[in-house]
This record gives sequence, structure tokens and C-alpha cells, in this order.
Amino acid sequence: MFSKLKLITGKANRNLAEEVARFAGLPLADIELFKFSNDESFVKINDNVRGADVFIIQPTCYPVNDNLMDLLIIIDALKRASAQRINCVIPYYGYARSDKKDQPRVPITAKLVADLITTAGAHRVITLDLHADQIQGFFDIPVDHLYSIPLFARYFRSIMDLKDVVVVSPDSGGANRARSLAKRLDCGLAIGDKRRISNNDQAILFNIIGDVKGKTTILFDDIIDTGRSLVKIAHALINQGSRRIFAACVHGVLSGEAVSVIEESPIEQLFITNSIPLSDAKRSSKIIQLSIAEMLAIAIKKIHIEESISILFR
Ligand code: R5P
Repeated sequence: MFSKLKLITGKANRNLAEEVARFAGLPLADIELFKFSNDESFVKINDNVRGADVFIIQPTCYPVNDNLMDLLIIIDALKRASAQRINCVIPYYGYARSDKKDQPRVPITAKLVADLITTAGAHRVITLDLHADQIQGFFDIPVDHLYSIPLFARYFRSIMDLKDVVVVSPDSGGANRARSLAKRLDCGLAIGDKRRISNNDQAILFNIIGDVKGKTTILFDDIIDTGRSLVKIAHALINQGSRRIFAACVHGVLSGEAVSVIEESPIEQLFITNSIPLSDAKRSSKIIQLSIAEMLAIAIKKIHIEESISILFR
């Protein structure tokens, strides 16, 4: 058993870290994190962490490389300060979509990042809805992979009548994820037949597999980045007779013009989690954030006392 439980955060998502700390009933450790004028990052932990079980709350979201580097140097500082166990709480795992060599001479950056985190000295990773479950295997340390599906399912049950609802996966890769949500909501499933033709922006939809005519549809995806994939599928759903369209995406990357793309789309409301901070500039009446803070606090407390976290999957 580890004696002291400590929470610490970088700059990636301070609000989430504070909320987790409130649920856990613990303060955030005192840390100084800044950049020198030459752009090099520096960290100094002002609390004693000797022998502690430390949880670093730091998603690797925008600015991705700075947040990743801060995570690595916090791990290094904790290791050199004799923390007994270093746990990285990375609710959004940046570079997750670079998870396979699907073109000649491309990197598998999700694996490289896993190696960097492990080599820096992490003992465990706690993450949420990885782009692909197999990314867990990129780590040679334990990974506690949490899912937001119970959170979204509870929320949808509380806000809508689910009689005529169909959950839609935007592509075949997300079919299992959408199927799990559909099962929890006891409603139908449809799958978008999406063909991506370039690395970032252009995606062409050919078809929707499943019956959405006259239905309320919930598009469910792991990441909304530019929003273009989701909106194209929303238009295809309209063409196939869907009555109302909602979207739920775990990680609201919302880069570039994503917010206006969503605002001008037939999607009535977009639900995201707070795995990534939502800046004031990205706030919209169409976007609703659900908090993962309580789930993370429960996970942290259970991991600290070496208890099962399976309660979080119910
Ligand atoms: C892709 O496989 C992911 O699950 C998302 O569908 C994709 O990253 C969304 O990107 P965007 O919002 O830029 O279309």
C-alpha cells in the first residue's frame, strides 16, 4: 500500500484537475512550470513527494507538443524526487490517430509517445476512450482504460425519450463503440460508410448502413477535430430521412473552424466531455460539456488503495 496520495497537474487542463481534486478531497500539489526565453520548459515541484503515490493529470491536447513535453519533465522531476509510484492521468491521448503504418514511410507516433512516457519513468497510465483499444498494448506498463459510454448513456437517458433513437457510428472503425452505446440505450445502430481520402480534411461518405428514416439519430465518435466528417455524415443522415440529429464525441479537439462548422450544420447539439478544455472562443449554445472529473477521482482513489475499478464500467 502506498502511504501518501498526491495530485499534480501541468497546464493542459487546469479546470479538470481542480475538479478532480475537489471530488477526491485533496489539494493539487504546488508546482512551478514555465518556459525560459529560449523556449525550453522547466518544472519545479515545491511539495515533498518522497515515497508518494502521485497522479499527474495532464491530457496531451493542444498545444500538443508542449503539453507532452511538460508531462515528460514532470515525470522526470517526480522520479528524481523519489516519488514511489508515478501515475499519468491522460484523459485525451494526443497522437492516438497515428497508431499504424498504413502508408509507406510514416511513423507510429502513438507508440513513440508511449515509449517516451514509459522511459521518462511512469509506472501507470489512466486514459479515456483511446482512438483504438490496441494502443493499450503500446505500453509495457499497466494502462487503465476508462470509457465515457456510461456517462453519455446516463445523460441521454435523462434528457430524451429513447423510443425512436438510433446510434450512428460515423465509420466502421467506431462501430464497436457505437454498438456499446446503442446497447446501453436499448436502441438501434447504424454505421456510416466513410472513405477518407486525405490525412486531415477531406472525407467522402458513400452510404449509411442501417435504417434511420424518421428516427432521432445520435452520431457517436471518439474525436471531433475539424468536425467535417461528422457534418458530412449528418447530411447523409438527413438525405436518408433522419428526423433529428445529435452528436456525442468523447474528445472535443475542435480545431480550426470546427465550431462554426457545427453551428452551421444540421446537428442540433454536440455533447463532448471535458477531457480537453473548451476555451471561451469555442463556446457555443450547440456544445454541451459533460464532466469526467468524478469518474477520474474514483479511479484515482481506487487505484491508490489497489481496488478494482470495474464499478466505473457499469
Ligand atoms: C477518425 O477515425 C476519428 O474517429 C474521427 O472520426 C476523426 O478524427 C474526426 O476528424 P474530423 O472532425 O477532423 O473530421
